[in-house]
Amino acid sequence: MGYNIAIDGPAGAGKSTIAKLVAKEKGYIYVDTGAMYRGLAIHFLKKGIQPDEKEKIIDACKDAEVSIGYEDGAQQIYLNGENITSMLREEAVGNMASISSAVPEVRAKLLDLQRNLAKEKDVVMDGRDIGTHVLPNADVKIYLTASVECRANRRFKELREKGIECNYDEIAQDIQERDTRDMNREIAPLKKADDAVLVDSSDMTIEEVVKAITGLCR
Ligand code: DC
Repeated sequence: MGYNIAIDGPAGAGKSTIAKLVAKEKGYIYVDTGAMYRGLAIHFLKKGIQPDEKEKIIDACKDAEVSIGYEDGAQQIYLNGENITSMLREEAVGNMASISSAVPEVRAKLLDLQRNLAKEKDVVMDGRDIGTHVLPNADVKIYLTASVECRANRRFKELREKGIECNYDEIAQDIQERDTRDMNREIAPLKKADDAVLVDSSDMTIEEVVKAITGLCR
């Protein structure tokens, strides 16, 4: 078994930024499980499926193969052999991933891939259900969160810096809706594992969060 660090938390809490830095400092592999759900979401979108077409989503799982690789240390996601990493962050993909990830067949499809990676390697894995469901015996569990206002502000700034027109209220509402969906679904909902350490990054710098987490690791 590898040494496993699980980082869960809501959308926009900074999980991937923090997890990547922790992985780099510790020399572990970073595994972004949200990207896997986004990879499957691209498969559904390519087939013209709408987020509410559950039966079609279940059926489409049969001919989807998601795999993961690394180029210069950066995680790449392959869908049926095609590298689709550059498409993962699109808004429609995030929306489809958030809705389709509530379908049990979608989650079952990715569970073995996630567990096998953690079995073979030292990993920092981030997602929504890593400490509660995917790796219940992880060596370190973190629940990383921040207020809705803070997460919306960070996202707003990020988009503006990229020159993308955006509206703060719409971003805040989108984050709120995603939280509600992720936390209230029947299967593997987002919640803090009993033995996870709560880190609220609202008033912390990135360096402070990384230090708090690496301080808990071997
Ligand atoms: O972290 P992210 O925004 O890239 O994740 C996209 C969606 O995938 C998110 O809305 C919820 C889902 N997800 C999940 O259900 N379980 C995980 N372990 C990771 C992501």
